[in-house]
Amino acid sequence: MNRIEWVIENCRLLAAIGEEHERTQPFAGLTIGTGIHLEPKTVALLLTLQRGGAAVVATGNLNTTQQSAIDYLSARGVRVIGGPTSDPAEHDRYLWELVRARPQLLLDNGGDLFVRYLEEPYDGLLGGTEETTSGRMRLEPLRDRIGLPVLVINDSPIKQFAENRHAVGQSVLESFMRITNKSTNGKRVTVFGYGACGKGVAANFRNAYSIVSVVERNPILRLEAMLDGFLVPDRDEALRTADVVITVTGAEGVVTGADLPLLKDGAILANAGHFPWEIDAAGFEAAAGGRVTVLTGGHMVNLAGPHPLGNSIESMDLGFALQVRCLEAVATGAAGPESCVVPVPRAIDEAVADAFVAL
Ligand SMILES: NC(=O)c1ccc[n+]([C@@H]2O[C@H](COP(=O)([O-])OP(=O)(O)OC[C@H]3O[C@@H](n4cnc5c(N)ncnc54)[C@H](O)[C@@H]3O)[C@@H](O)[C@H]2O)c1
Repeated sequence: MNRIEWVIENCRLLAAIGEEHERTQPFAGLTIGTGIHLEPKTVALLLTLQRGGAAVVATGNLNTTQQSAIDYLSARGVRVIGGPTSDPAEHDRYLWELVRARPQLLLDNGGDLFVRYLEEPYDGLLGGTEETTSGRMRLEPLRDRIGLPVLVINDSPIKQFAENRHAVGQSVLESFMRITNKSTNGKRVTVFGYGACGKGVAANFRNAYSIVSVVERNPILRLEAMLDGFLVPDRDEALRTADVVITVTGAEGVVTGADLPLLKDGAILANAGHFPWEIDAAGFEAAAGGRVTVLTGGHMVNLAGPHPLGNSIESMDLGFALQVRCLEAVATGAAGPESCVVPVPRAIDEAVADAFVAL
């Protein structure tokens, strides 16, 4: 079995929804346009939408498109626009081509599709979904102009704990071990940030027998980390003692070359936050002279290293089940224009949670 088939087989929520939607056909006669990473887990999502009667037109995101995913989808009737690219101008052309196909539903990731739709509106758009927080922040000020249902998947509590907490934590641990081939036992690990992702990273390293310190600038979360049993030393002390430093804050310049004098020889730094600028990798490289190592150049350690797997299949199956149910709600009119850039409706969260527990 190849990897895509393995993933499809293990997306069990999507399989169950696909079976139901083959009968109910919520997307019959509709085109769904998607602008999300093209890799094995999204292949499972797009083919599920197709089972519900949708014509699917898809393009990827910068840097993450896998040719094998394109080939698999194209062979099954999905119209894929463009190919793997790291050129923003080329990616922009793909996004425009997708919006100009005038899909009735948009599955957006970062607001790219809805923003272009507003530049060139067309008749027949029913609304859609947005996967990320950054997309929500971009689309919120545009609510009045969009005036259509747009459900934000990242704001579901399920996404927060299943993916951001548990799955990111596991995959950062897995990536650290895969990339370095080093053990975690007895290592002093300092985690910057105790949001959903940081909680998972800290817990997974503790479970892997590391001694974990948390640095969190929000005093309430710092207290929570303490009550969860982590050390909460001040920042300098946490850097001075660390064998491994992991940032997962979403903020810029969390650890920089100026911190080098604090760090132990041989310290390993990794970033799991969305943007590479949490750790000033270039500054370290210039100043460190090989004394410390920044993994994957400071890019997301669980996605940018060799043979990256990303988050677990189960966590993505949950998030993508929310996607399909939300698109269904928009397609059927269960979510109306009053639901413009709002979280996943509670009833959908509950139904998806029940379905996963019952698998
Ligand atoms: N690697 C992945 O697969 C993956 C998946 C989901 C999210 N993310 C990214 O991880 C990052 C964190 O996500 P989250 O959901 O945990 O966000 P969050 O906002 O819940 O948590 C971030 C925490 O970092 C703290 N913080 C900010 N600056 C700090 C600093 N300088 N020092 C110490 N603490 C600081 C904040 O107070 C906050 O509590 C984001 O960039 C997000 O996009 C990565």
